[in-house]
Amino acid sequence: MQARSDMIRREGKTIAFVPTMGFLHEGHLSLIKKARQLGDAVVVSIFVNPAQFAPGEDFDSYPRALERDCDLAEKEGTDVIFAPNKEDLYSAVFQTYVSLGELPNHLCGISRPIFFRGVATVVTKLFNIVKPHFAIFGEKDYQQLLVVRQMVQDLNFDINIVGSPIVREPDGLAMSSRNTYLSTEQRTSALSLCKSLKKAQTLLESGTTDAATLINEASDFITSHPETVIDYVAICDPETLEDIKTIDKSALMAIAVKVGVTRLIDNMILKVAGM
Ligand code: PAJ
Repeated sequence: MQARSDMIRREGKTIAFVPTMGFLHEGHLSLIKKARQLGDAVVVSIFVNPAQFAPGEDFDSYPRALERDCDLAEKEGTDVIFAPNKEDLYSAVFQTYVSLGELPNHLCGISRPIFFRGVATVVTKLFNIVKPHFAIFGEKDYQQLLVVRQMVQDLNFDINIVGSPIVREPDGLAMSSRNTYLSTEQRTSALSLCKSLKKAQTLLESGTTDAATLINEASDFITSHPETVIDYVAICDPETLEDIKTIDKSALMAIAVKVGVTRLIDNMILKVAGM
């Protein structure tokens, strides 16, 4: 992959990179479309990264469909698919990790303490292997996008990080490879995430600016659905992820819920009229 990237760069072409864990859906494909617009050559990586899964999480059962993914990525105009094995990226003596100080102390980092270290480490490795000019990340994983931006700034990666909006099913459910785990009933419960975000925006527009009230409304709505266990419902600063008490400017509302055994996340920027 490094030799291939060197060749592309020697031809004076730019590389746009989309890192994924595979089992591609329209969300991933939207990132590939954006990559196509940004760079001359599009590289997609498919790698289920063991370093970001804690023991007991779904690393072994994470859905995999490499051939189908290759077809989908190629149809979208991908030039190179990089799909290494676990052993290719993590040798038996692997011992160097990238970890951030502050951002992982919020939202998903609290219940998944090794997650962002795993993400930052593998993204660093992938950046060093793929040598992209642009890398595209989805706003679905909002905190991950912030972590990558911060890491790129802190470690002086010469890479342009581009965010891309959440792609949803027609009924609003944020697309995720993990949606495949859901039964029909669980899928109905899963809809409570996006519905509660929309409801919060409506309440805000009608004058409820107290974050705790919006959080309680959303939490009550979600837990009124079967098989839901809330990890967090938070309203926070979209850059620092520090909690906000009163919403007087754009704020991030982020949610993580276990529906059955499946952990789902969603988020929305709550907008104050006139700002
Ligand atoms: P994965 O969950 O496969 O997601 C790959 C990329 O697709 C991420 O940037 C994610 O935010 C984006 N994505 C997923 N669902 C989306 C949706 N509904 N709309 C828009 N974008 C969406 O995120 C990872 O993999 C990994 O942590 C990775 C960055 C590859 C490191 O291992």
